[in-house]
Amino acid sequence: MRYIKEYEELTSEILQNKYFLELQNDSHHGTNRYDHCKRVSYLSYLIVRLFKGNRQNAAIGGLLHDFFHGETGTSAEINYLTHPKTSAKNAKKYFNINDEEAKIIETHMYHHALAKKVLPFISKEKGVNLKECRPTSKEGFIVCLSDLLVSIFEVGRYKVRYDTCLYFLFLINIIRY
Ligand SMILES: [Fe+2]
Ligand SMILES: [Fe+2]
Repeated sequence: MRYIKEYEELTSEILQNKYFLELQNDSHHGTNRYDHCKRVSYLSYLIVRLFKGNRQNAAIGGLLHDFFHGETGTSAEINYLTHPKTSAKNAKKYFNINDEEAKIIETHMYHHALAKKVLPFISKEKGVNLKECRPTSKEGFIVCLSDLLVSIFEVGRYKVRYDTCLYFLFLINIIRY
């Protein structure tokens, strides 16, 4: 199909890059980070097509949104405030991304920051600046939403930690009401 071909053209260089391929070695939500990034990227691309946004920015921003190395839970890079910055730095280092794509990567944890602000009892961390975490484009919000939806799918499918599932349950309730 035409859109699959377009998606492959936009992302093939990154998907074959040896530093990006190393994400296959990092576990993430019970799967590996390479597959997680691919899912988020493809879903973002499909949603952006519906809303007539910038398809390249969504596909690239989605693909590189978690471009950091290290096992989940063992590194400070996993922190929800720092890993978007690390991912954007890596993306700039290895690929020729534009400013919009970099911004999408840097703000992809907005949903998480929002949940922590609304539900402070799930975290003792302070100093979350929601304004800084907020996406600045339609594509940025779409990558954020795709990351959340893909994460829920992965958590449900691969059965990760109980408290992580609980967090998602809270989040779904916020969205519903
Ligand atoms: Fe992330
Ligand atoms: Fe992610």
